[in-house]
This record gives sequence, structure tokens and C-alpha cells, in this order.
Amino acid sequence: MSSTPDTAPRLSVVDIARLYADGERIAMLTAYDYPTAAILDEAGIPMLLVGDSVGQVMLGYESTVRVTMDEMLHHTKAVVRGARRALIVADMPFLSYATADDAVRNAGRFLREAGAQAVKVEGGVRTARVIETLVRAGVPVMGHVGLTPQAINALGKIRVQGRTREAARALLHDALAVQEAGAFAVVVELVPEQLAAAITARLRIPTIGIGAGAGCSGQVQVVTDFLGLGTFMPRHAKPYADLRGAILAAATAYKAEVEAGTFPGAAQSSRMDDAVLDEVLGNGPDDRTAAGRSDIGAGIPLDRDL
Ligand code: KIV
Repeated sequence: MSSTPDTAPRLSVVDIARLYADGERIAMLTAYDYPTAAILDEAGIPMLLVGDSVGQVMLGYESTVRVTMDEMLHHTKAVVRGARRALIVADMPFLSYATADDAVRNAGRFLREAGAQAVKVEGGVRTARVIETLVRAGVPVMGHVGLTPQAINALGKIRVQGRTREAARALLHDALAVQEAGAFAVVVELVPEQLAAAITARLRIPTIGIGAGAGCSGQVQVVTDFLGLGTFMPRHAKPYADLRGAILAAATAYKAEVEAGTFPGAAQSSRMDDAVLDEVLGNGPDDRTAAGRSDIGAGIPLDRDL
């Protein structure tokens, strides 16, 4: 996508469908805060996901299971304020869509309170009813199949999904169920590239891959991986910058300058008229010099002089 004027309206799921129909590959990134969202938006990224990965990469939780609705709403609001043009997808946290009623109530909060345009839910066949209910209620939904991190306690560990015949068939069913339930797109996470490509070829909605090869309709990366900000880099991620290195170098240089007294310098400081200060301190031409002291006058006393 080319850069767009400030007044251009925010993208909708209809625009995403058009990109897909035009055969354009869709670049999506996660975002969790105002300044990063503003930069990604300026770069023309058409879809930003406020992923529940915020729990691990920003809040220091062990998994996404601990992330709450309040935390997701807080971060979604910041991203919506930062990005004017991108479609904002809010990730529904663990158990926030366990029933259709929960799903509608919580999705409604993302759209009405936080200003997101769509929500994402994990699960294929098992989540299809919830997706259907949300879509009927007017909430655009992105599905998420393959590795579903909110199920980590059931899965045991993070690993590539769909490698066996049964698992591959189940994954295909999951993706089809999400599509038939009315989702506008589906994330396909940690799936062998041939299977992800085969799923993509069979769907009428875009697949957004993460660790699923280049055959998907689009790609998503966790922004901290993409920027090289974390200490752990998943195999499927590619850093496009080294922000960790840049921040480390900046903090080290700053500490050294503060310790050496070279920060702040003249450029970061302001000055006042010395005569005014002399007057305030009682060292003006009309002030008496205090008895026996040439360093203080009759002006504002220092603590030690009280
Ligand atoms: O929470 C997240 O960041 C995600 C992406 C990995 C798709 O769900």
C-alpha cells in the first residue's frame, strides 16, 4: 500500500477483502502502544493486531492466559489513538468468549469503549458458534487456528501444529469452520508451509500466517520480534531492526554522560539574567554583604543559613 493523506478514512474489513481480491499480500503487525501504532500506521501497515501477546512481551507474564479484558482495553485504546488509518483488531483474551453472551458483551466493549473495528478469537470448530453469534451481532471477527496460545495449558508446549494426517485434516476443518461462521480473515499460526498454502488455496477469506510459510494471503509478526526488542527470538520471526541493541547503547551512553556531568549540556539547558539571580539571592548592588560572609547577601537564605 502506498502512503495515504491524513484525511483518508480508516480501513474497514471491506478494504481488507478488496486487498485480498486484488491479490495483494497483507502485512499485519501487532501493536500495543500509542507511539508504535502511529509509526506503523505512517508506514502504511493496513491492519494492526492488539494481540494478547501483550501479556508476554510487554507485561512480563509467562503466557497469554493471565491477560485480562481491562489490560486489553487499555492497550487497544492507545493503539486506536495512535493509528488513524489502519484497521484495529483487538484480541479477545482467554475466557472472554467462553459463552456467546460473554463474547458479545466483551466484543462490544472493544468496539464501543476502545474503538477497535474487529476482534480476534482463537479456535476453529470449537469456536465457530461464537464467531457466528458475533458476526450476526455486527462484530467483524478474525479467526485463529493452528497453534492457539491460549490453549497452552491443554497443549503442554508451543509446537508446530498439523504435522500428522489427522491433525492436518482437523486443521483444515478448523479453517473452513471459521470461514463458514463468517470470519473475515483467519490467522494460521505455526503450521507447516505446505498445509498453510493448501488451506489458503481452499478458503475465500485471507489467511494471515505466522510461522506458516509464504503461501498465506498475508503475514503477521509480533512487533517486539519484528523490532528486535526482546531477548528471545522465535524461529519463525525475522527482526527488521535491533531496538534492543539501540536502547542498550543509548542507556549506556546516557548513564556515562550523567556520571561525567556532560548531560545536560548547553543545548538542553536554559539561562536567566545573572543580575536578576544576584538580586534574588541578595547579592545585588544595593544589598549589604552579610557580616563576615562575601558569598551570601540579605536575600533568600539557604537552608544551612537558617
Ligand atoms: O497475540 C498475538 O500476538 C497473536 C499473534 C501471534 C497472531 O495472536
